[in-house]
Amino acid sequence: MVRVNIVGAGLAGLSAAITLAEQGVACRLISAQASERAQSVLAEGGINAALNLMGEHDSVEEHYADTMRGGVWLADPNAVWGLVNDAPAIVRRLASLGVPFQREHGAMIQRNFGGQKKKRTAYAKSSTGKVLVSALVDAVRGYEARGLVERSPHHELVWLDVAQDALRGVWVWDTFAGAAEYCPGVTILACGGMGGLFGGLTTGTTTNTGDVAALALVAGVELANLEFLQYHPTTVPITGKRMLVTEAARGEGGRLFALRAGRPWYFMEERYPELGNLMPRDVVSREEWAVLNDPACGNQVYLDMRGLSKGIWRERLSDLRDEIRDYLNIDPAREPVPVEPGIHYCMGGILVDEWHRTNVAGLLAAGECACAYHGANRLGGNSLLGAIRGGMVAARSALEEPAISADESALREPTVWVTDNAVEHAMREALVGCMGIVRDGATLERGLRRLETLPKTSRVLLARSVVSCALARNESRGAHQRSDYPQTDDAYRRTTVATCRGGSIEVSFKELPEPREGVPRP
Ligand code: FUM
Repeated sequence: MVRVNIVGAGLAGLSAAITLAEQGVACRLISAQASERAQSVLAEGGINAALNLMGEHDSVEEHYADTMRGGVWLADPNAVWGLVNDAPAIVRRLASLGVPFQREHGAMIQRNFGGQKKKRTAYAKSSTGKVLVSALVDAVRGYEARGLVERSPHHELVWLDVAQDALRGVWVWDTFAGAAEYCPGVTILACGGMGGLFGGLTTGTTTNTGDVAALALVAGVELANLEFLQYHPTTVPITGKRMLVTEAARGEGGRLFALRAGRPWYFMEERYPELGNLMPRDVVSREEWAVLNDPACGNQVYLDMRGLSKGIWRERLSDLRDEIRDYLNIDPAREPVPVEPGIHYCMGGILVDEWHRTNVAGLLAAGECACAYHGANRLGGNSLLGAIRGGMVAARSALEEPAISADESALREPTVWVTDNAVEHAMREALVGCMGIVRDGATLERGLRRLETLPKTSRVLLARSVVSCALARNESRGAHQRSDYPQTDDAYRRTTVATCRGGSIEVSFKELPEPREGVPRP
């Protein structure tokens, strides 16, 4: 029986495991933490699919157009076309697995989300990630009982064994037993994003520091579009990190405002009459950034949810209200909530083709660690979809990959990096200092020089790749805004590719794939 390694047990990893098991292929699900602690459980708002349940004539073509426009024409059109076409069946399948999607009068409903005119987001109050993870864990348990899935939580990937551009296996470290183990064979990386590189500025899990992507980089795997860091417009600081106030709050009628001359100014509604508070996140965060830097607006932005009906609070957002009351001691139904942008998602990551293959044979990637569907800016609701669909596609592709064997007796146990807090601190300061919502060449140069003074750990090399990508893209597009290059430049409608050679980071640009026959031209 073929056995595939899956590294990461959040939604992308679970979805890959289920897809393999359905084909009768065994896999090992290796993860630093249990699925229930994966970042996927933090996802709040929902999952997109053009199910057209709300009588708005929604279609996969519109979902495709919104995703491509939201990503400012930088996403792979073939991958996005596959994503939006598979979405309706994926959401129906999840419902059949018992996911309690929101219903009204017995029928499933969908809500508005940013960057999309149609109600396309299926959801479960504001805890969609949690219910999806528990449904998929349940399905995986069934396959585990039949010997098709072996779950290995508390195992960290510490080395990728790559020779001549082919993966032979991975080394993992059992954090309970304190021992290294070699896992030969084709491997799918599904290990989440790298928001934790920015410490407490992330809405995600602070332990998601991109270490697997960093190890992949050092092993010769290409990373892409690392400059595109999504700042979510509505976050609040809590101990050690940021808490997300889901975009669903605005999807259900929440409004952003600032106090100007003592009166509420609903700046998004004034500036963008069509989509208003539901413009794509890069646009909303930039507008907020300008208001937050404007003393005439008291350097503060508020989210006003006082107009939401009792029914909406009770049926659709009760958990969000509880969270805000618990953490901030504010009742959002009665008082505006002070918000600011926070790091939420990395559009870039391990470069994959539309089949989720990397440049290294035998190695695939899916979920937030992969650069697949989102171009320069991701639409809310497309990440859960991308994770689940990415896991499925990567699993199918894994079956086509050649298994390359290593002479295991000749293998040497890898050195396991020990985190040096002083280096971590300096790295984070350098990154945070230059990768803000609006950047410029001089600040990025300074950040890079600072990083170059630090020891070349895999994490520092990843941080250097992020800043190098941002320096190389001399334009503003989506989540990458350069004050010294404020225009979008068609010459940069290309993917940024970072590679590591002999401890040095090189950045190049790669043409986007041409749309295949039948795929609309973006
Ligand atoms: O605001 C949110 O609920 C986030 C959703 C997403 O990132 O897809």
